[in-house]
Amino acid sequence: MAGPAPNTLARSITESVTLAIAARAAALRAAGRDVISLGAGEPDFPTPEPVASAGVSAIRGGQTRYTAAAGLPELRAAAAEWFQSQFGLRFTPRQVMASSGAKGALHMALTCLVEPGDAVLLLAPYWVSYPDLVRIARGRPHVLEPVPDQGFVHRGEQIARAAREQGAKGIILNFPGNPSGAVPTAAELRDIVDAAAAAGLWILSDEIYATLLYDGAEHHSPAALPGGRERTLIVNGGAKSHSFTGWRLGFLAGPEPVIDAAVRIQSQVLGNPCTISQIAAIEICRGDHREENARRLQAFDERRRFLVEEINRIPLLRLEPPRGAFYALVDARELCASLDLDDVALCEALLEDGLVATVPGSAFAIPGHLRLSYAASTKEIREAVARIARFVAARAT
Ligand SMILES: Cc1ncc(COP(=O)(O)O)c(C=O)c1O
Repeated sequence: MAGPAPNTLARSITESVTLAIAARAAALRAAGRDVISLGAGEPDFPTPEPVASAGVSAIRGGQTRYTAAAGLPELRAAAAEWFQSQFGLRFTPRQVMASSGAKGALHMALTCLVEPGDAVLLLAPYWVSYPDLVRIARGRPHVLEPVPDQGFVHRGEQIARAAREQGAKGIILNFPGNPSGAVPTAAELRDIVDAAAAAGLWILSDEIYATLLYDGAEHHSPAALPGGRERTLIVNGGAKSHSFTGWRLGFLAGPEPVIDAAVRIQSQVLGNPCTISQIAAIEICRGDHREENARRLQAFDERRRFLVEEINRIPLLRLEPPRGAFYALVDARELCASLDLDDVALCEALLEDGLVATVPGSAFAIPGHLRLSYAASTKEIREAVARIARFVAARAT
C-alpha cells in the first residue's frame, strides 16, 4: 500500500525562493567556493546587546514555560506602547498579539480574514511569501502588474478597478516594500486607503521595514488614515530593525475581534510564540535603542548610496535609489536581452560563475530584475559589485 501523500494544496506550495537561494549559496560555500550572498533579507548586525541579554536572563531565570497564546500580558502592553511611541498608533494590549515572526502574524491574520475562494490583491513586485500565504488560507491571490513609472506605488484607481473586476475582499500592502524599497507619500497612501475603503477591502499592512527610511522618506500606516483604522491589520516587529530574525517574534495589531480569532487559531496551531523571545521583545519595545538604530540606519544608507552609484556604472544595469528597507531592485532587462537569458538563468549564472547570490525578479513578479540585499557588510558589497561588473564585462559583448 502506498504511504500518505500531501494533498493538492500542499503540493502546490513552493519553497521560499529566497531561502532556497540562501541554501544554494551555503552549499557552494560548504564545497569551498567563495560565494558572497546578497540574497538574504537579514541584517548582518548582531542582535543588540540589551535585547540579547534579556533573552539570556530569561533562560537563566527559568522563564522558559508556556505563556498565554497571545503572548505575555507584559509584552502585549509593551508592544501597544511601542506602536504608540514609534508610529503614533493607539492600540490597547488586547488589540495586539505576538506571533512567531512577521510570517506567523501574516499567517494568523490571513487564516482569520480569508473565506475560501476570496480574491486578495497583491501589488507586484510583492514579497515572495504573500501568494502562498494567501493560498494556504484558501484564498485566491490576484496580482496587479508593477508600476515602475509610478515609483512602484499603485494608484487608488488601479486598485479600485482590480477590486471591482475580481470581487476582491482584501489587499496586502507592504511599505517600505520588499523588493522595491517603495515608500508612498501620505497623499499616495491616502488614495490607496480611500480605494480600499470604497471597495470594502480589508487591508493587511506589512510594516516590518517601517523604521528603515532614506532621503527624508516618511512612514505612514493605513491604520492612521481616515477609513483605514477599522479595516487594517498591521504586521510589524523587530526582525529587521533589531536583527531579531532568528528569534522568530512578530506582532499583529488591529481590530479586537480579528485579534481574538487569530489568538484562538494560534492557540491551536502554535500554543505560544517562544517565551524567551517574548521577553527579549519587551526590551525591544521598552529599551532606548535610538543611538544604535541611527548607527545601523546610517550604515545601510551608505551601502545603499554606494550600490546605486556603482550599479549604475555597470553597462546594461539600472538602479533607481530605493527609499526604504534594505534591497536594491536592479533593472537587468537589457542585460538579460543581451545574454539571451531570463532573470532566473542570469541569477544562476551569476551565482555559479560570478560567485554572487542574488534573487531573480520573477520571484517577486517582476521578471528581468535582480534583487540585491544590502544588509551585508560594506566589504562584501564592494567585492560583490566588482564581481558583477567583471561578470557583465566578460559575458556581454
Ligand atoms: C516584507 C516582509 N514581511 C515579512 C518578513 C518575515 O519576517 P519574519 O522574519 O519576522 O517572519 C520578511 C522577511 O524577509 C519580509 O521581507
